[in-house]
Amino acid sequence: MSCPTRSDSSPAATRNPLTQLTLEQLRRRTSVKWRTFAPDVLPLWVAEMDVHLAPAVVDALHRAIELGDTGYANPTAYAEAFGEFAAQRWGWTDFHPGRTAVVPDVMLGIVEVLRLVTDPGDAVVVCSPVYPPFYAFVTHAGRRVVEAPLGADLRMDPAALDEAFRRARDHGSRPAFLLCNPHNPTGVVPHRAELEVVADLAGRHGVRVIADEIHAPLALPGAAVTPYLTVAGSQDAFAVTSASKAWNLAGLKAALAVAGPHAAADLARMPEEVSHGPSHLGVIAHTAALRMGGEWLDGLLDGLHTNRTLLEELLADHLPTVGYRRPESTYLAWLDCRPFGLHTDRPGGEPGVVSEVAGPAKMFLDRARVALSSGHAFGTGGAGFVRLNFATSPAILTDAVVRMGRAARDAPSPPRVDPDS
Ligand SMILES: Cc1ncc(COP(=O)(O)O)c(C=O)c1O
Repeated sequence: MSCPTRSDSSPAATRNPLTQLTLEQLRRRTSVKWRTFAPDVLPLWVAEMDVHLAPAVVDALHRAIELGDTGYANPTAYAEAFGEFAAQRWGWTDFHPGRTAVVPDVMLGIVEVLRLVTDPGDAVVVCSPVYPPFYAFVTHAGRRVVEAPLGADLRMDPAALDEAFRRARDHGSRPAFLLCNPHNPTGVVPHRAELEVVADLAGRHGVRVIADEIHAPLALPGAAVTPYLTVAGSQDAFAVTSASKAWNLAGLKAALAVAGPHAAADLARMPEEVSHGPSHLGVIAHTAALRMGGEWLDGLLDGLHTNRTLLEELLADHLPTVGYRRPESTYLAWLDCRPFGLHTDRPGGEPGVVSEVAGPAKMFLDRARVALSSGHAFGTGGAGFVRLNFATSPAILTDAVVRMGRAARDAPSPPRVDPDS
């Protein structure tokens, strides 16, 4: 179980932020990724990246500390910076900073938007398997999750959405659809035509769409993200986003809720106190990332592209029965471990609870000392899968998959699961 302790300083690697930190340096971190499991565990679970901050973000934060600029958040520059980034990266030219509200983070922003456009007990449709907090936050906000499972190709299934929107109407008068664009955990990037179908269905069923676009800056080479609010028929929808996933800023809280033109009046009803949640240092960091962190992001995307190919090769060599579809975006790989037969469809926990490690994720944790996200927490269609975060160095990624391969080979055969029990 060896991991090189030196970081890579070759010219190509200096552009790649994923090759600059050693395991020893990373283990000094105190975030949830590094402190949840014992020190012999390689943590490839929660969506934090093993990178230094982008220099532009470091400079902006240093400047703020030197100035004592640690007061309350002023969000104007954040919304403007997002608009500039959105125009450059996605050609989103009719973005209006005036149709935004600053929120503490993406999940709390989604909850606040749900409070604006749905009532307690109303249904919120999600495409399972999906990011577990979609279940936890929606339920905690007193709304009810209705699943529209992804198709076998892991893309949104219009028939399932149509049916779920119909059922959502039965649960209450103001349903919503929580779209994950791009999708976590599959890394799928919906095409414009797919999003147009969503908009059409939502319009016909009277469902308000809230697009979580936190992973949108992370389109990997070959993929093009379409912001939902640029799609025909999306005028009454919302997007909630931040620089958090792409620049590793989860601990520096600040996100933006963005309204389509016909949703602006709804967003204007966002209570003022919500804007007290984001931190000023968060706003400064996210603004700097969006405005001046483009080159760093491009280096990261190249590094992630290298890692997704490396992962493909490692899996072929060490875990050939595990299913893997190259993610089109993000640093999350959704690995089909059902061939191990270690899962049941109902492992006991509710979707949304990430702390319960079951099925193949438990085997990899116990036997390989590699922490992954357990698929069942992602809802229907997740059992038997694990989510692996490959935003780490090639050395750590290699060590992890080698360990996992060894563990899978040595694992005793699972007891037969009686499908009728
Ligand atoms: C799809 C998605 N939404 C939201 C979040 C969390 O964002 P925040 O910390 O801003 O609430 C994540 C984190 O991984 C995510 O993957």
